Amino acid sequence: MRIAVLNGVNLDALSIRDPELYGGLGLSELETRIYQWAVELQCTARCRQTNHEGEFVDWCHEAYEWADGVIANPGAWSHYSWAIHDALELFAVPVVEVHLSNILEREEWRRFSVLENVVTARFIGHGPEGYRQALEFIVGSKS
Ligand code: DQA
Repeated sequence: MRIAVLNGVNLDALSIRDPELYGGLGLSELETRIYQWAVELQCTARCRQTNHEGEFVDWCHEAYEWADGVIANPGAWSHYSWAIHDALELFAVPVVEVHLSNILEREEWRRFSVLENVVTARFIGHGPEGYRQALEFIVGSKS
């Protein structure tokens, strides 16, 4: 089983963002954990991060060709990018939305996510653990 893990804008700067909100883990450490969890769960993860919205959309289209599941944390785009909404809407395989911080208890503008209606599941505010839960969800949905 192959899972695309797509992280969006500013997630490359995780190590210097507020550790109270984001856990203080760098992106490469986060990706290392994701790869380890994938091995444990006997699936293959492919992690990517970009600060360019069009590139994120391109990777959705590319993942459409091969992925058995998608984990998406588009960062701030989650709150307004209808382009990413439309790209994720295409998938027939499970699409899981992950946010490290609890967007539902932060500023008003963060509480809404354009992904809400197109995702199969959401793991919000569980820190890096949310990605493990998302992997488990996708692996579990196949059996
Ligand atoms: C985030 C939450 C977003 O509101 C924020 O813009 C991010 C990260 C999260 O993982 O908690 O960049 O998606």
